Amino acid sequence: HQQLDDFPENFLWGAASAAYQIEGAYQEDGKGISIWDTYAHTPGNTYQGTTGDVAIDHYHHLEEDVALMAKMGLKAYRFSVAWSRIIPDGEGTVNEAGLDFYRRLIHELRKNKIEPVLTLYHWDLPQALQDKYAGWESRQTIVAFKKYCEVLFKAFKDDVKYWVTFNEQNVFTSMGYRWGTHPPKLKNIKKMYEANHIINLANAEAINLFHELVPKGLIGPSFGYGPVYPLTGDPQDVLASVNADDFNNNWWLDVYCRGEYPYFMLKQLQKAKIAPNITEADRKLLKSAKPDFLGINYYHGGTVQTNRLEKQAETANQKDFSATDPYLMQPEADQAQSPEIPMFNSVSSPYLAKTEWGWEIDPIGFRIALRQVYEKYRLPIFVTENGLGAMDKLEDGQIHDSYRIKYLQEHLLAMKEAITDGVEMIGYCAWSFTDLLSWLNGYRKRYGFVYIDRDDNGERTQQRIPKDSFKWYQKIIAENGKQI
Ligand code: BG6
Repeated sequence: HQQLDDFPENFLWGAASAAYQIEGAYQEDGKGISIWDTYAHTPGNTYQGTTGDVAIDHYHHLEEDVALMAKMGLKAYRFSVAWSRIIPDGEGTVNEAGLDFYRRLIHELRKNKIEPVLTLYHWDLPQALQDKYAGWESRQTIVAFKKYCEVLFKAFKDDVKYWVTFNEQNVFTSMGYRWGTHPPKLKNIKKMYEANHIINLANAEAINLFHELVPKGLIGPSFGYGPVYPLTGDPQDVLASVNADDFNNNWWLDVYCRGEYPYFMLKQLQKAKIAPNITEADRKLLKSAKPDFLGINYYHGGTVQTNRLEKQAETANQKDFSATDPYLMQPEADQAQSPEIPMFNSVSSPYLAKTEWGWEIDPIGFRIALRQVYEKYRLPIFVTENGLGAMDKLEDGQIHDSYRIKYLQEHLLAMKEAITDGVEMIGYCAWSFTDLLSWLNGYRKRYGFVYIDRDDNGERTQQRIPKDSFKWYQKIIAENGKQI
């Protein structure tokens, strides 16, 4: 072992969540319906028809949940605001009761010296905007988003320092428009790139407005990043990995951090006639908006080889990818339109073990990811998600999740190594604080430090039970990561 640097003194040891996955109370106190309410209510869309109607009922357990965070010694808590709680129709009237809920949450956090990290958009677009404007396919939604942001910036500018604009834009656009497994459930690649561009503009507008209204705060997007490995040292495979990196990572990160699209990929999309419509004013706007930090969600990277088409029959059998992992999915839709298809082929890594959900476990990839992103963009990094989904079992009222401790321990070590390498880091939010709804996988895929007594068949007691990992993380925080 090399001698590792200490974590910075004010390092934000945190945990994360998202509104739809925890809150429940989906129609309470004036909340409007979101596209996820509608989507989960439509039969066949989610695992056993599970919804976030009640979720883990955080809406009614707010004080109890924050008390547990305080007990753990958490320094930061990342949560998202449900847009339709604040503005039920997405635009127009503001719902004070919705604002009050987050006011209470932020107040409780502050009281317990926990830094709130507020995500503006974690996938739950108000249904009204989907119905009226086709959601992110229209620039009208940018206008609505800006107003919603303004309401939150003004309400919480003195109490919230860290803000996240969009959570995993790469994932929700791909799932929503390429694979058709998230709302709006389309398989239309041209629309995907168009909507993605509009979201980039919304991101830039939000950042610029924030800098005007909250000059002391810090804001950035949270991106689902994974390093791309070539399967072999064959230059053909290496080229495939360079291509995949452009399609999977640079396409988003370059826009966020450099204010422009990567030349190679843009050219491919233009040739295939699926490039978004980018005006001069758009280019200017993208250039003008600069995030203060980069949020990185890390679960794993990906391995590719050359010549996707020829390998397709072979990989069609490898259905070990997760439903929320667009990069490991093989294209079914719009193949003719997808310029990347002949450029690389996603395969399973022969070197890495997998979780029981088929996700590769790759802590070294985490160090690589942090190094790559920092080297390229030189923005401080806030890890806004990282964790292990597993089927925990309650034994005599306890959860012995040694596998989760091992996973987190290895990833924290990799992060400490990255810090020692020189990467500038703000904090780390494990996914997740409590167990919660895993969008398409129901409640059995558990990520939390705190077990929730509910499952896919019912809400049960909703009792909160700290797992072994709770105590373990509590100690890590108390020692500021010294023992890692
Ligand atoms: C990220 C999302 O993609 O991964 C979270 O930001 C999500 O909301 C997490 O829950 C884990 O994914 P999954 O599919 O295992 O729940």
